[in-house]
Amino acid sequence: MHEDIQEVLISETEIQTKVKELGTRLTQDYRDLNPLCICVLKGAAPFMADLVRRIDIPLEMDFMAVSSYGASTRSSGVVRIIKDLDASVEGRHVLVVEDIIDSGLTLNYLLELLRQRNAASTKVVTLLDKPNRRTTGLKPDYSGFTVPDAFVVGYGLDYAEKYRNLPYIGVLKKEVYADPNQL
Ligand code: XMP
Ligand code: MG
Repeated sequence: MHEDIQEVLISETEIQTKVKELGTRLTQDYRDLNPLCICVLKGAAPFMADLVRRIDIPLEMDFMAVSSYGASTRSSGVVRIIKDLDASVEGRHVLVVEDIIDSGLTLNYLLELLRQRNAASTKVVTLLDKPNRRTTGLKPDYSGFTVPDAFVVGYGLDYAEKYRNLPYIGVLKKEVYADPNQL
């Protein structure tokens, strides 16, 4: 285990088992729909990479990067597009692939945008869900794990751009944070 990690919340094996399960469900639900899987960078990249290899139907991938203004560990609801999609979503069955849903503000904004652009359908698959922190009515269509209200890292999730490459989800030791009061 990495020396900055206090506790492993979800092991590599648990993640891979869940990803396989989600892939099987998505294979059934999106059969003949040629879904467009949209990865929300950077956090969802490892999940997206593993998930699409468990979806056994033709699909396409696209990538979008957004950032929300405000403190580093909290979402403000004001979303800025850093990198937009390469292709049009018009008439497409869009599956947004997220690492974690916290307040739901980022996804609310994204889903609204995709609907304005006339996607045929918009659904969300998230690896992690923090329902206790929700300030919106957003519910993911597919969710891997529910996590408590703690800041988690690994498998794409970062603290100051670090720890994205850990194969598991963990909680950081308190002393690692620059300012623990910010959390
Ligand atoms: P909202 O609040 O808009 O936020 O649903 C979603 C985004 O906030 C980030 N986020 C986290 N990142 N560990 C992280 O590394 C966490 O525990 C965490 N909680 C929220 C993340 O970028 C996500 O897409
Ligand atoms: Mg982040």
